[in-house]
Amino acid sequence: MSKVWFITGAGSGIGAATARAALKAGDRVVATGRNLDKVRNALRDVAGTSLAFVQLDVANEDQARTAVAAAMRAFGRIDVAVNNAGYSLLGNFEELSTTDIERQISTNFHGVMYVMRAVLPVMRKQKSGRIINVSSVAGAVGLKHCGAYGAAKFAVEGLSLAVAHEVEPFGIKIVVVEPGFFRTDLLDAQNVKYGRSTIEDYAAEGSSEDMWSGYHGKQQGDPGKLGDVLVKIAWMDNPPKQFLAGSDALAVVKPILEGRLEELRAYEGLSKTTDGFF
Ligand SMILES: NC(=O)c1ccc[n+]([C@@H]2O[C@H](COP(=O)([O-])OP(=O)(O)OC[C@H]3O[C@@H](n4cnc5c(N)ncnc54)[C@H](OP(=O)(O)O)[C@@H]3O)[C@@H](O)[C@H]2O)c1
Repeated sequence: MSKVWFITGAGSGIGAATARAALKAGDRVVATGRNLDKVRNALRDVAGTSLAFVQLDVANEDQARTAVAAAMRAFGRIDVAVNNAGYSLLGNFEELSTTDIERQISTNFHGVMYVMRAVLPVMRKQKSGRIINVSSVAGAVGLKHCGAYGAAKFAVEGLSLAVAHEVEPFGIKIVVVEPGFFRTDLLDAQNVKYGRSTIEDYAAEGSSEDMWSGYHGKQQGDPGKLGDVLVKIAWMDNPPKQFLAGSDALAVVKPILEGRLEELRAYEGLSKTTDGFF
């Protein structure tokens, strides 16, 4: 049976590619975005009865509820919800403003939370569903300049891993996807936000903009291929809980996780000294 997808931030990059991959697989898609004209334009060539467009700024909880209701009116069910919408705030933590950090958390974490809250009652009633939450390598390990971005993505991972236990009895599985670098609009100057270089001590290291902007357009990952993999994952009975996408992601995360295990073993004795007497 074909599936119904609900995708946030479907107007570009991984979201648009996932919408295309799902349609190609014969599924139906509710493509959402805060700028609906942009989403319509991005998917114009695949428009048809299997594709519905719905307004959704993920930072707005009311819109999340309304968008899920609109998706239900369009196709009657939601089998796969992809929390993909997001942007990057990059810079040394001390040089980021609190307001900018709060905005980052609001879109990249609260947005996921709002959509999950809206979609879970639907999936519980159906007794089935998949939620695919797009995190990042920065949500798996600590990366320089990713204090705010990484905090939001780690929060997505924590929420996903915990809620997965609660909803598994209802046939719902949650997958966190941790992409490496993919050629999308994420690092486009119009979308990414950089902290301002205001503290002399950090100047010798160069600015975050100098470091990250050079990757734009040169990322090795193909969002189309990631879309195809997400379709595969959506069909799995036992999908991975945390999925690293791309060989660059593997190269960064694997040694750090192995190092964590080594550290855990090295301090095992000390950990046990804190045991109680009961
Ligand atoms: N590309 C990578 O290398 C990479 C690596 C790791 C993780 N990721 C994650 O992958 C996801 C998709 O990003 P992408 O790489 O495909 O970048 P992208 O091409 O810039 O796509 C991001 C999408 O999110 C949308 N969005 C941003 N804020 C939104 C909001 N408040 N409400 C609704 N939509 C919003 C954007 O829409 P607007 O046009 O309206 O801004 C855009 O369509 C993000 O969560 C990102 O953190 C990407």
